[in-house]
Amino acid sequence: MANQNRPDGNHPDADHREESQDGVNSGGVVAFIFSMVVTFACFIYVTFFSGGVDLKEVKATDDSGATQTVAKVEEKVDVSDVTEPWLANEKMVKHGAAVYKMNCAMCHGVAGAGDGVAGGGLNPKPRNLIEGKWKQGGTSLQLFATLQNGIPGSSMQGYKDALPAKDRWALVQFIRSITKDLPADVEADLKAKAPGLK
Ligand code: HEC
Repeated sequence: MANQNRPDGNHPDADHREESQDGVNSGGVVAFIFSMVVTFACFIYVTFFSGGVDLKEVKATDDSGATQTVAKVEEKVDVSDVTEPWLANEKMVKHGAAVYKMNCAMCHGVAGAGDGVAGGGLNPKPRNLIEGKWKQGGTSLQLFATLQNGIPGSSMQGYKDALPAKDRWALVQFIRSITKDLPADVEADLKAKAPGLK
């Protein structure tokens, strides 16, 4: 086998061997360069000329992800000093917005218009919270009851076990801050009943 590398050129197979090695090597190099050129051309095409469908999708995800992250950071408020979370309070509204984004936006939509990504195929559809048109009422006590018990026969579940009462009051305040269907609270009623609700 060592003979195969001798430099004398007189080996009976030398010509043939060199030829075939050159052939394989140059073919490989050409194929390699060709594949690199094709790959690069595809990359250039997708990046600059094709309109980049995939890239747009990735961008949309990035955008919403980024928006949500920013929103979460902005709206993270400390409500530990709020003792009566059912009474109108700007901090509770902000906290509610954050709780809403995490738990409700997938069905009711980021802005509350009932157009969440997970809500499209549902029947009945998630309520447009901005429009309201409440089945179970839109006072603070009624909305809180909805969040306690859900709406039987729909995918609107109760959140009694999933979220602490304070977070549910925050949601009530957030919903009442965005909706146009806003029946007035009877304050005495609210103050009398809310503290007993869990
Ligand atoms: C799985 C999807 C889904 C999620 C998640 C969801 N909901 Fe709903 N929600 C619905 C549907 C569907 C309805 C409409 C039910 C109906 O019309 O009977 C509804 C209705 C409502 C209503 C209207 C009640 C009324 O009286 O008409 C309110 C308020 C509400 N949801 C608040 C929330 C809040 C706050 C959250 C987050 C804690 C939430 N929902 C999470 C699907 C969802």
